[in-house]
Amino acid sequence: MATPTEVRARTGGRDVQRIVYSADEIATRVREMGREISEWIPPGEPLLVLGLLKGSFIFVADLVREIQRPLQVDFIVAGSYGSGTVSSGEVKLLYDPSAELKDRHVLLVEDIIDSGNTINKLIPLLEKRQPKSLELVALLHKRIAPTLVREPRWVGFNCPRDFLIGYGLDHSEDYRHLPFIASL
Ligand code: IMP
Ligand code: MG
Repeated sequence: MATPTEVRARTGGRDVQRIVYSADEIATRVREMGREISEWIPPGEPLLVLGLLKGSFIFVADLVREIQRPLQVDFIVAGSYGSGTVSSGEVKLLYDPSAELKDRHVLLVEDIIDSGNTINKLIPLLEKRQPKSLELVALLHKRIAPTLVREPRWVGFNCPRDFLIGYGLDHSEDYRHLPFIASL
């Protein structure tokens, strides 16, 4: 577990409220999910892992190394947050994957499900491209989304309803590089 001094070195002097998931806890859970996803993929049918940037970049990097099956990786960029800590409700597609989705098993990787807005906008959009299957994995789920068009098939942690940073999650673009997840 990182000491307060180590935390402050990384944040530039700012304390976090508490470390919610340590780097070791995350690694253990990611390994378990990788194993479950590996078992779910039909043999001989390759997978396209589609990471939602920027928040999922570390999760994708760790998760794909725990999936023991052939796969390809691409990313999609959908912005929903401005500089605040409350969702604006607006979802913009800023980068569209070049990878073909049609007739492929697609695994959409989300860092955290909060209002569910991003997922509710993205899933129908991706379904239109006729993937063979489309599943969702989320590292964190706040369980506050009133409706979700698709529940994630795999969830890393049901997390507290705090504003979380680290392991890809940002606050105004800061703190993505923290190896643990903390509440701000
Ligand atoms: P939703 O559309 O409200 O479900 O939020 C999805 C996106 O908002 C996530 O992919 C994150 O990028 C961002 N987000 C939601 N909650 C948090 C948080 O606690 N910390 C940092 N980013 C968050
Ligand atoms: Mg964000």
